[in-house]
Amino acid sequence: MPRIIIYTLLILTLLAILPPVIAANARSKPNPNRPINLIQDMDLQAKFLPQSENDLFADKRSQRPQIVGTVARGETYLDTHFVDGVVDGQWATTMPKQLPMNMELLLRGQDRFNIYCTPCHGYSGAGNGTINQRAMELVANADGPVNGTVWVAAKSLHDATVTIQPIGQIFNSVTHGVRNMAGYGSQVPPADRWAIVAYVQALQRSQNATLEEVPTDKRGGL
Ligand code: HEC
Repeated sequence: MPRIIIYTLLILTLLAILPPVIAANARSKPNPNRPINLIQDMDLQAKFLPQSENDLFADKRSQRPQIVGTVARGETYLDTHFVDGVVDGQWATTMPKQLPMNMELLLRGQDRFNIYCTPCHGYSGAGNGTINQRAMELVANADGPVNGTVWVAAKSLHDATVTIQPIGQIFNSVTHGVRNMAGYGSQVPPADRWAIVAYVQALQRSQNATLEEVPTDKRGGL
């Protein structure tokens, strides 16, 4: 093979190795410069980052507080019955008017209850959910706090202190939590919380109903 070809191939091979060597070198070291951003999309736009200063306003805050007297879209809380379970300063004793009581609502409540409440309160609401059972087991076999914590047993929803509560009070417990139980207001929208509460009352009724209240075709051969 003529020498010129051998030298050319050698030089080309060496040149071909150069770019990956340069790239590998660049990647191995930290670089204080901004990365080369070929497709910028909205990465580098003029904007105020959270907690940054903005000279336009007298208080120099770029985050503006809510304007007094205004209400954000979708956040009108005028209907206290629906949103808080409160009517004229008292716990509501009826369902909000926009939620007519029917089988659809109760089935929705059952569905949501089985997702959000059964882990602790159990399917029947007796307070024997699997999480509660396991926690009680751990606590029973330990000398002191388990993993630095203690467990308060989930309450039976058939406890007399719960069954006497107006529906609005139970709604409030679901929304904001009660004592050691966390609230579900941020995860479950109000209409679903009402459906859950309606189902809780159905569960309570189921434990205290007389035979006469059970429809004849549902009496299971009694
Ligand atoms: C992580 C476990 C847990 C889950 C899930 C849970 N609860 Fe509770 N719940 C508790 C505990 C614990 C208590 C008792 C709190 C106490 O006495 O400090 C309680 C108490 C209650 C009470 C009684 C309040 C009172 O006034 O005594 C109601 C009603 C209730 N829960 C409803 C619900 C409903 C409805 C859901 C589902 C949306 C739910 N809970 C989900 C643990 C739970």
